Amino acid sequence: MASLGLIALLGFTSIRSVAAWGAFGHEAVAYIAQDFVSSATATFVQNILSDTSTRYMANVATWADSYRSTTAGKWSAPLHFMDAMDSPPGSCGVNFARDCPAEGCVVSALTNFTNQLMSSSTSAAAKLDAMKFVIHFVGDMHQPLHVENLDVGGNSIAVTYNSASTNLHSVWDSSLIQEYAGGSSLTVARTFATSTTDAIKAGTWSTTSWLSGTDINDPEATGMKWAGEANGYVCTDVIPDGVAAVQGVDLSGDYYDDHIHAPRIQIARAGYRLAAWLNLIATGKTT
Ligand SMILES: *[C@@H]1O[C@H](CO)[C@@H](O)[C@H](O)[C@H]1NC(C)=O
Ligand SMILES: [Zn+2]
Repeated sequence: MASLGLIALLGFTSIRSVAAWGAFGHEAVAYIAQDFVSSATATFVQNILSDTSTRYMANVATWADSYRSTTAGKWSAPLHFMDAMDSPPGSCGVNFARDCPAEGCVVSALTNFTNQLMSSSTSAAAKLDAMKFVIHFVGDMHQPLHVENLDVGGNSIAVTYNSASTNLHSVWDSSLIQEYAGGSSLTVARTFATSTTDAIKAGTWSTTSWLSGTDINDPEATGMKWAGEANGYVCTDVIPDGVAAVQGVDLSGDYYDDHIHAPRIQIARAGYRLAAWLNLIATGKTT
């Protein structure tokens, strides 16, 4: 990766290390979703966001990460993750009763804000926030280390990437996918999203299973399915050989080669599913 880009990236991720996908990942998810929503859904979303630009979803994809660090938005900080109390790499899994506390988690947040979007009694201001939260949280629940409790979702596991100090959570938020995409700007996010959309349409992944179990009347079950699948990558790709095997290791070489497939497919799934979810909210159909 070019050194300038790397410096920008590390400066960025160090202050947002617990922010789930970095801005780049969230913007890519939003752009992929824009590619797959129906035209009726696009109008529905644009009306709520008051934005008819070519990046109407990407523009608000990281709002929730800014909001959580304001005094008014502090209450929403726990909604960006779910602390699965499993034991990777031997045993992965999520359990709503165990892992989603009363203060909320990313799955209960999906339920709450989906219901607000579907209710005719929700104010326009509340719908605006709910839309921005749904666009963001569908992304968050696809990041494996946002549905994992171990070592604060990997934040306390020190590693290096291209020789620079960082942590495992940041590597999964940003370093791997930005190296694959070749940058971190909104323009690169658009280019990366377009190639991901093309790959989905070309059948690179078997998407038939991606929407199985998707039930707009049961956001909790749907969210748990998505979160459970993401959490599975903690055992197979994030720390398949345990924490000691990555601690202090530079993850930009063999580790990148072995595991880049995981953030790629997870961002593809998140964008594809976000589109289907918004289609269901707007029109009752997935396409
Ligand atoms: C649902 O969202 C509202 C904000 O719109 C928030 O005040 C409330 O705490 C949330 N409820 C749950 C159960 O997450
Ligand atoms: Zn987040």
